[in-house]
Amino acid sequence: MCGIVGYVGRKKACGVLIEGLKRLEYRGYDSAGICVQYDGSLAMEKCPGRIVGLEQRIASSQPIHAGRVGIAHTRWATHGEPSERNAHPHTDGSDRIALVHNGIIENYVTIKKYLEDKGHVFKSETDSEVLAHLVGEFYDDGGGPLEAAVQAALAEVSGTYGIAVICADEPGKIVAARKGSPLIIGVGKDEYVIASDASAIIEHTANVVYLSDNEMAVITTEGCRTTTLDNVPVSKEIEQVEWSLEQIAKNGYADFMLKEIFEQPEVVRTSLRGRLDLRDMRVTLGGLANVARQLVSTHKLILTACGTAWHAGLVGEYLFESLARIPTEVEYASEFRYRNPIVEEGTVVMAISQSGETADTLAALREAKEKGALALGIVNAVGSTIARESDSGVYLHAGPEIGVASTKAFTCQLVVETLMALMLGRRRFMSQTEMEGYLRALAQIPDQISTVLEQSDYIREIALRHVERENWLFLGRGYNYPVALEGALKLKEISYIHAEGLPAAEMKHGPIALIHDGMPVVFVAPRCPTYDKIISNIEEVRARKGRVIAVATEGDEHIRRYADDVVYVPACPPPLQPMLTVIPLQLLAYHAAVARGCNVDKPRNLAKSVTVE
Ligand code: AGP
Repeated sequence: MCGIVGYVGRKKACGVLIEGLKRLEYRGYDSAGICVQYDGSLAMEKCPGRIVGLEQRIASSQPIHAGRVGIAHTRWATHGEPSERNAHPHTDGSDRIALVHNGIIENYVTIKKYLEDKGHVFKSETDSEVLAHLVGEFYDDGGGPLEAAVQAALAEVSGTYGIAVICADEPGKIVAARKGSPLIIGVGKDEYVIASDASAIIEHTANVVYLSDNEMAVITTEGCRTTTLDNVPVSKEIEQVEWSLEQIAKNGYADFMLKEIFEQPEVVRTSLRGRLDLRDMRVTLGGLANVARQLVSTHKLILTACGTAWHAGLVGEYLFESLARIPTEVEYASEFRYRNPIVEEGTVVMAISQSGETADTLAALREAKEKGALALGIVNAVGSTIARESDSGVYLHAGPEIGVASTKAFTCQLVVETLMALMLGRRRFMSQTEMEGYLRALAQIPDQISTVLEQSDYIREIALRHVERENWLFLGRGYNYPVALEGALKLKEISYIHAEGLPAAEMKHGPIALIHDGMPVVFVAPRCPTYDKIISNIEEVRARKGRVIAVATEGDEHIRRYADDVVYVPACPPPLQPMLTVIPLQLLAYHAAVARGCNVDKPRNLAKSVTVE
């Protein structure tokens, strides 16, 4: 949830560290800090709030700007409220060792007591400072080297961490370690950039080493030595980061979220590329080749995820059951991990996650593996923990998603689920003709999304008409019921308007009581087998003076008689409709949030990747 950066090299560390923090700010942004080695000691500054505050604070600090080795951190509070004293880096009792940490030390209270009994005095409320003091304790006991003290300390802690540590007595060295939180080492020419994700590295190099759980690295300008936490050497492959810096920049859009909404035609094309074969009319998912036989014969599929990814899972349930006839369940990962689920022989569990680091989803994946299921991942972040720990899986290829509100990742999750369901359906019972129909329609989706995006200004007008209303309802049926849930979540998380998503028919069983004069009710109502039913639901809302905004199929003049506003999407087979019907809802939420002056890329109380439970 936090972002950490480290630098060892010939350049002045400060610039690299601050730029790196800015790229990681979407991971957490309630306080920040920096610490560099300088003249045999440590120079450190930290402050509450955004990186710009820290930048102003260090502007006149000569030591901070002189150091060539340093660490930095941007925080999303878990233990201890957002403040200067709880900001990272934290130092040991002697202020000679400094540490930045992303994750949670679960047994920190016990260790803190042990260290306080030994005379340690703590400046903050954080679990991370306890780890810094523990490293210091072992360093003083053993007299170094730093990596030995870090190993000894980590042997005592339970929880999750990605850490970078420096010591005033060991100039030119950073010790990094990970368990449960991501950590990547950028391998440059005579320099190394350590970071929580590649966005802070690719400005300097595309060559990276992904640290795995229970691994650590000792990094100096001479080289990078990787071992396990108990000091067994590990040889690590240098991999290439796919993403360019340009991809990370806003490309001229006002916000990352808007850029990512408008990137959807292109990223859907990328996600289909090499997988949708219109020549041989087939689907190829290389990442599943080694498990295809198990998948085709599975008699139970469990999709598990959180938030928006869970909504994609819900669409997946409809897809796998109707296109592949595989009994499918969708589970909130936070519930699945603790409820001792029944996972029979031959069950396949699929974890869906954009970041690949969401703690509950990772734990659900581990639970599934524990219970002997084939554990697959549908993930966007290459090299992330869920991707590494799943038996097999499919990458979204949606590119980096910076906006906290997930948009293009959701649409690409639907693309991958549809490809999987079609591949399995064809292998299980679907005719070639039916398959070809779906594949041709799927190939149209990128262009069809573009036509929906052209209505952004019109959708903005609709948003402005209702932006003062504090309660909205989103309703849909079949494949579009999960889309209604997603539309409500998008509006909630970035505009702070309360919204509820429901299966349209459920309204009569209670929520209809909410409807009163002028209440906005969004119907996801493209042509589908239950179209007539949803028209009657619309009439029920109109009868109670609700204002109806409908997402409908191009050419559907009938619905105009019932809806106050209609946004049209191109016609496509119902299983593919969610890839189109969600777009107007993403834009509706975006324009409402902008009109209410909200920071859409960094909504309050949220972070892009929830790595704590
Ligand atoms: C969605 O806009 C939110 N950012 C959040 O619900 C998110 O979908 C959820 O935290 C899951 O994240 P993941 O896909 O990275 O696992």
